Amino acid sequence: MSEIKTSNWGFPTPTWFGAGRVRDLPAALGSLKASNPLVVTDAGLAPLPVFQDLCAVLSEAGLTFDVYSNVQPNPTGEDVEGGVTRVKEQGHDAVIIMGGGSALDAGKAIAFMAGQNRSIWDFEDIGDNWTRGDTSALLPVIAVPTTAGTGSEFGRASVITNTTGNTHRKVIVYHPSMMPEIVIMDPEVTVGLPAGLTAATGMDALSHALEAYCVDAYHPMSDGLSVQALKMIKEALPRAVADGSDLDARSHMLVASGMACVALQKGLGGMHAISHALGAAYDAHHGMLNAVLMPHVLAFNHDVIAGKLAQLAQDLKVGHEAEDFLAWLSSFRAGLGIPDQLSQMGVDVDDLETLAKTSAQDPCAGGNPKQLDAKAAAQILRAAA
Ligand SMILES: [Fe+2]
Repeated sequence: MSEIKTSNWGFPTPTWFGAGRVRDLPAALGSLKASNPLVVTDAGLAPLPVFQDLCAVLSEAGLTFDVYSNVQPNPTGEDVEGGVTRVKEQGHDAVIIMGGGSALDAGKAIAFMAGQNRSIWDFEDIGDNWTRGDTSALLPVIAVPTTAGTGSEFGRASVITNTTGNTHRKVIVYHPSMMPEIVIMDPEVTVGLPAGLTAATGMDALSHALEAYCVDAYHPMSDGLSVQALKMIKEALPRAVADGSDLDARSHMLVASGMACVALQKGLGGMHAISHALGAAYDAHHGMLNAVLMPHVLAFNHDVIAGKLAQLAQDLKVGHEAEDFLAWLSSFRAGLGIPDQLSQMGVDVDDLETLAKTSAQDPCAGGNPKQLDAKAAAQILRAAA
């Protein structure tokens, strides 16, 4: 090592892993001295047996609880406000989240904002905005992820869409205390996820590991998590897509997505900067956007990350050079049915210059290994459209 650098690292969160662990929810609540939770989920999941089973576990334990399912696929400030109002009306003492990235992001924000007197937009992840947070009245959160992709159960941020006035922008809301107290990682609750969503969310996890690994920063712990997550995703994601009931593959994907999310504290890059802009503009699936943008962002960054991609080729045992990694990634994506162009996923980019500017302003742009200004983002968008 030629130069020792300074860096702040953080590693998370008690995790209760294993098939059937959702039945330990009452014990998890008890360990937090909570007995009246708000259960946050998304509208699509609320009527399904997997969610009803969770409610039954709470009822059978004699717990009172309330369900809040007014969470859109790209959750908005209003979705969060609705949950905060419910917490205040019902005097809830904890938040349980069951769902994918949308429910996790909304639920974490609800638990955080229930203790604040400021607008949620005052906590955008810029500079030291987070120091405005009041930590005296935060609600504890138990997270039960039902997708293996976002890893938001281990994250300290939520992506919330600001639809105030004429704005329509994805905002990363951040506070170091905005983390679940306990994560219940139960692969049984992920078996119902359809193949297409399994692929798209799994590619989100892959993009977290890959983008974090390519960030130009000193963080060997993060790099180790990224490499191991990539190895697990390479092996398990095709199996989970081919057979959703494969509990072993579902287990590996849950753990890998969590590891990739811990890894992304090192930073992200152009895939996420541009996918945030596109997601806000077109309400498109975050993981699928990253999956489609992936080769185009890698091509733009190629000259500065070729050494890292060559190392990944060796770590994943797919060759020795950057081109070997890219060839593997291409066939891996194709095998999962990921298209190469945004138009093939129904996103017809019609205001490229505005999207490029929004992308360049996204906090993730700063992590891209090559400078991602509006001109660069426009170049990638043109190639990906
Ligand atoms: Fe992501």
